Amino acid sequence: MQILSRTTTPHTFKTCHSYEFFKSVFVRFIVTSCRAVVIPRFGGPEVLQLRSDVDVPQLKPNEVLVRARAVSINPLDTRMRSGYGRSIFEPLLPLILGRDISGEVAAVGNSVRSFGIGQEVFGALHPTAVRGTYADYAVLSEDELTAKPPSLTHVEASAIPFAALTAWRALKSTARITEGQRVLVVGGGGAVGLAAIQLAAAARCHVTTTCGSQSIDRVREAGAEQAVDYTAEDIELGIKGKFDAVLDTIGVPETERISIKFLKRGGHYMTLQGEAASLTDRYGLAAGLPIATAILVKKQIQYRYSHGIEYWWTYMRADPDGLDEIRRLSEAGKVKIPVEKTFPITQVREAHEAKDKKKIPAANLEILGLHTLGLGKQRKSGKRLKLATLLGDSLKSRNRPVLPAILWQLLGGY
Ligand SMILES: NC(=O)c1ccc[n+]([C@@H]2O[C@H](COP(=O)([O-])OP(=O)(O)OC[C@H]3O[C@@H](n4cnc5c(N)ncnc54)[C@H](OP(=O)(O)O)[C@@H]3O)[C@@H](O)[C@H]2O)c1
Repeated sequence: MQILSRTTTPHTFKTCHSYEFFKSVFVRFIVTSCRAVVIPRFGGPEVLQLRSDVDVPQLKPNEVLVRARAVSINPLDTRMRSGYGRSIFEPLLPLILGRDISGEVAAVGNSVRSFGIGQEVFGALHPTAVRGTYADYAVLSEDELTAKPPSLTHVEASAIPFAALTAWRALKSTARITEGQRVLVVGGGGAVGLAAIQLAAAARCHVTTTCGSQSIDRVREAGAEQAVDYTAEDIELGIKGKFDAVLDTIGVPETERISIKFLKRGGHYMTLQGEAASLTDRYGLAAGLPIATAILVKKQIQYRYSHGIEYWWTYMRADPDGLDEIRRLSEAGKVKIPVEKTFPITQVREAHEAKDKKKIPAANLEILGLHTLGLGKQRKSGKRLKLATLLGDSLKSRNRPVLPAILWQLLGGY
């Protein structure tokens, strides 16, 4: 880890005299543990524990230590807390939840070139990362982060990356939407839906969306030309014309049926509700993955021959190109996710309760504000972070390809 060791930065120590600088270097030097929200078991919001002495792992060469200023609560966080993905995550409890982050670079691995200490960054962890961002200090790889536009606050920035990367992956990487195409976003009132509308509008596509009545103004402002209120009308009657791509954020049989009906031949149907994780949770990895593969392939073949369309289970992936485009668009004010309410990290249970019970309008992300430094003990050991390292003792490198992990991810499991 650069800068954490005094011996690696002798020049900096000799030439800087500001008290603030020394203070900040000192802080970086001793951060080996911090506060983090962990789940020791699956369950309701009551299982969330704010611990004060959680290890900060040693950085790999391509990793960045980020001092969190704000993190967002995604549906994945509450689902993981409740046991979604237990086939993978159960042996790894306690877990730290959280995907999105906005903060400052506290330290970088030896090969990191894009970021410097103190730089403001935002980004999102891969869905299967084990050490999440609900912590004073989070570890992300270089390609999971980008520079935070100065025009955005940390709270605003932290609401964007996970949702926008999910939308980007579907529309830009899978369907490869181009100017003039027609895009349908099912569920445009949510964070992913809203990001999808904004990305498609920025690509000069014509966007239709379905959403609740309270979201109509918002989706129109985001760039939707037509908004169909699913709470007030029959969306099958309300949607007009055919589409080149449909992103279905709801992914129930009814929205799938309607979406496919409205696709042009050669169009792409993309659901965010791939079944890989739920099937592996139910049947275990060994049986669940082949079952999920069989279901996906069957649907792909079936829809290709019956409707001439491409069928996908789509999912968030960290993508440097996507993150770069999202940064540029958010800097230009073209991608923004509204934030209704923020909570201090000490109120993480209340925040999850509100999300679960939808006390807060569901279209808004709730943000956990992290306000203070958590400093502590000497480092003990680094934790391995990602799925590839979780599937057996023989897996020593998190970059090592692991068949079940790859399959699970290909199938769209979170
Ligand atoms: N596969 C992946 O990698 C991936 C990644 C991210 C998210 N997801 C999943 O995608 C879903 C959306 O995520 P999100 O972050 O956008 O959630 P979110 O911000 O909580 O939004 C959910 C929204 O869905 C809308 N909605 C509910 N029922 C609807 C219906 N029948 N028709 C149209 N809209 C409906 C509501 O909008 P209104 O307020 O307008 O009613 C609600 O605000 C979640 O299930 C999440 O788990 C999957």
